Amino acid sequence: MTAQSAAEVFGDPVPAWPIPARPVPPLRTPGLSAALLRPHLLANLIASYPDHWYEADFSDFRVGIASAARGVLVNEPETIRHILVTNAANYPKDDNQLAILKPLLGQGLLTADGDVWRRNRKLAAPIFQHSSVREFAPLFVAAAERSVGRLLESGKPFAIDHEMTRLTLDIIGSSVLGADIGDDFDGIAHSVTSTLDKFPAMFLAGAFLPPWARDGFIDRLVKPGRRGLDIFARRIIEAAKHKEHDDTLLSRLMVASRADSGQEMSVDQVRDEVATFLLAGHETTANTLTWAWYLLTLHPEAMRRVQSEVDEVAGAQSLTADDASALPYTRAVIDEALRLYPPVANIMRMTSEDDETPAGVELPAGQRILISPWLMHRHRRHWREPDRFDPSRFLGDDTRTTPRYAYLPFGGGPRICIGASFAVLEAVLILATFARRAHIRVLNAANVMPQARLVLRPNVSLRAAALPRTGR
Ligand code: HEM
Repeated sequence: MTAQSAAEVFGDPVPAWPIPARPVPPLRTPGLSAALLRPHLLANLIASYPDHWYEADFSDFRVGIASAARGVLVNEPETIRHILVTNAANYPKDDNQLAILKPLLGQGLLTADGDVWRRNRKLAAPIFQHSSVREFAPLFVAAAERSVGRLLESGKPFAIDHEMTRLTLDIIGSSVLGADIGDDFDGIAHSVTSTLDKFPAMFLAGAFLPPWARDGFIDRLVKPGRRGLDIFARRIIEAAKHKEHDDTLLSRLMVASRADSGQEMSVDQVRDEVATFLLAGHETTANTLTWAWYLLTLHPEAMRRVQSEVDEVAGAQSLTADDASALPYTRAVIDEALRLYPPVANIMRMTSEDDETPAGVELPAGQRILISPWLMHRHRRHWREPDRFDPSRFLGDDTRTTPRYAYLPFGGGPRICIGASFAVLEAVLILATFARRAHIRVLNAANVMPQARLVLRPNVSLRAAALPRTGR
């Protein structure tokens, strides 16, 4: 079996864009004046990061007048370990970031802290262990088969970002929440994306308004999205009450709540968890896959290698969880897509008490800290040719020589992404299932820029074509 080249399939050569899209960094750190005169820079934070931040260890920044807009960038792997892992108790999530997220996500796992977070993380952990996640593999593959089948049947160009969102939303609904999202898709997707679109305005509010004005402003922006999710949460609670045997995340949380307080979880509590898992659990993976298709379009030789690897492992059969571990190159493509376009481009923390890091940097209480996977993943001292797409860096010696915290798409320490194994298995199986059955090509790859909202995504919708693979 040989994988055809994209030129053979699509009938024209793929233009070579040597460097995957990235904003050209300004030469100087945008200060207060730039923030006032060019607020669009703050609407896409990664575009405001100056060139020297791609090789610095630390840097101060100030991008607004509110205290929330001042802080220190930490770009040094051992200090990142100190903040996220070793001394994590002294570095809770930043209060400005929470002010943006809490109106939508309330006390969900991403935004809760203290005892509520500890209890819910413990309850959710078993579902996200590697062994449990493997049980979802048939569901991942079946959903991907349906999606690629539908696209091939239609034969028309489609928005691949939208398709990846539909697919991952479908999966998170049926696997983690025990809900058939089906007809609710448009409503939920609208609630989530319309809220994410307001993220730059919320960020600017944090940078320029005092907390009392900021909170009211953010609350008004988030209200419509929250209302949409409320309706969906109520439907899920009703459905869960009528299920006899159910081991979804929500049923676990509901049982625990009854045991703790003798009461059912309130709509608010369920809405918080539903909103958290919908938001954290599908936009991130959908964008990883969208960027992977974009990168594979720019690099047809990598696309062919994925197809050959999948052919060898699965042949004409649907993929299984075991197959996923036999697809090292496909996995490396996902790892590299997560490096070049980390869905969570920025992680924010705040110092509780004065601290001194192992590198001797003093961090006073109340200090805001920016840890940026976007910058770390393109740091010139930690990566060779950091802007180049090269999945093989995850197959060879590079993984041994790159410092652990130079690569952190899922964060680190106690607040590390609970869905990391889930996301990687899901992404590998979706990519492989599509590659097994179709040639996929993004049609407008030349006009794309990454845009950091809450999640890093393309600034335009990506149109794509899918053609059936023949001669195999
Ligand atoms: C490629 C996909 C994903 C990426 C890149 C990603 C990234 C992250 C990152 C960086 C954090 C830590 C944020 C911080 O420390 O401030 C996080 C937390 C979280 N993620 Fe993910 N995530 C992904 C997929 C998922 C999936 C599939 C789920 C659920 C099914 C999920 C659920 C969560 C939750 C609940 C948290 C909060 C955990 C806690 O604080 O205890 N994520 N994610």
